[in-house]
Amino acid sequence: MRALPFLIAAALVGAPPALAQTPAPAAPKPAAPGPQRTLLSVKEVMRHIVNPAAETYWAHSGEVDDEKGANDRVPTAQAEWNINIDTAAQIAEAGNLLMMDGRARDPSGPWMKYALALNAAGIAGMAAATAHDHDKTNDAGSAMYDACFQCHGRYIPRPKDSLYKHDIDKDLKAAGEKPK
Ligand code: HEC
Repeated sequence: MRALPFLIAAALVGAPPALAQTPAPAAPKPAAPGPQRTLLSVKEVMRHIVNPAAETYWAHSGEVDDEKGANDRVPTAQAEWNINIDTAAQIAEAGNLLMMDGRARDPSGPWMKYALALNAAGIAGMAAATAHDHDKTNDAGSAMYDACFQCHGRYIPRPKDSLYKHDIDKDLKAAGEKPK
């Protein structure tokens, strides 16, 4: 037992491991790296990645109605186009985050299709903003919106007595989708 105070002191001052007489407890192993290691839930991915990226993208594209009528929100500086390129890139890869094991709610159902639609819309948004093409930037923004809307309509359950009366089947039909 006489060695004990020395060991404790050595541990406190961080003595080189060669001095220790008993092996230090093994550090916890980090989780295996690799594509299946998810850290955030779907909800957190939505809240912290998908939603802020989409909101920022939409705020720098599309059309707004104000007292002067309908106005195109056309970026006027490269820095603004860059915001669209960056946020479209985030949307593009977020599609992959949603397809990972542990997040894909329905790996053989339409979930993957909606996630792929985010991939495609994000890539289209990057290309359009890189080319300073306002119309195509808007189209990509609409495609992002459709992916959000359709996936939410299918996978966020609403109680039967919900006050939210929106007819998702009608919208899906209008968008050329079969009602689910
Ligand atoms: C592949 C399916 C899918 C796509 C595509 C998708 N979402 Fe979601 N989203 C979900 C699911 C499922 C939830 C509910 C998560 C939960 O509550 O566990 C959700 C929840 C959310 C929430 C609520 C988060 C919270 O804090 O409760 C927001 C906001 C959101 N999504 C935004 C978006 C936007 C914006 C887009 C499109 C740019 C989008 N989502 C695309 C599946 C999707």
